[in-house]
Amino acid sequence: MRILLLNGPNLGRLGHRQPQIYGRTTLAEVVGQATDHAARRDATLVHFQSNHEGALIDRLEQLDYDGVVINPGALGHTSYALRDAIEGVERPAVEVHISDVHAREAFRQVLVLEPVVVGQVIGRGVDGYREAIDMLLDHLAERA
Ligand code: DQA
Repeated sequence: MRILLLNGPNLGRLGHRQPQIYGRTTLAEVVGQATDHAARRDATLVHFQSNHEGALIDRLEQLDYDGVVINPGALGHTSYALRDAIEGVERPAVEVHISDVHAREAFRQVLVLEPVVVGQVIGRGVDGYREAIDMLLDHLAERA
C-alpha cells in the first residue's frame, strides 16, 4: 500500500510554532516516525507539505497512492476546494489534527472535510499521525 501524507499551511514549522500547543517534535521527525510506522505494516509513505491550497490539490490529483493521511491545518476549517478534491479523487482519507480543535476557538470547531474522510484523529498530539496511518491501513484492508 502507498500512503500519501499531506500537511497543510504552517505545519512546516512544527516543533517551533506554538510548542505549547503543537509540541516540540519537528515535521521531519514526524515524517520519519510515520515512514517507519508505515514500513512496519508493509506500506510505503510519501510526504508533501505546502502552505498553498492549490499545491495540496495538485498533489492529490497525482493519484499515485492508495489512501491519504492529511493534516490540513486551518484549511480544514475553511476549504471547500480541498474537500471537493478529496471527494473527487476517490481515495480514502483520514484527517489529523494534533491539537484538540474542539476545545479551542469556535472557528476551529468547523471541520469541512468531515463528510468526505473515512476517519479523524483529533487532539492526540503527533502520535495522531501514526494512529491515522493505522486507521487508513485498516480501512484499506477491510475494503480489499
Ligand atoms: C491543526 C489545527 C488547526 O486549527 C490549525 O490551524 C493548524 C494545526 C492541528 O494539527 O492541531 O494549523 O490542524
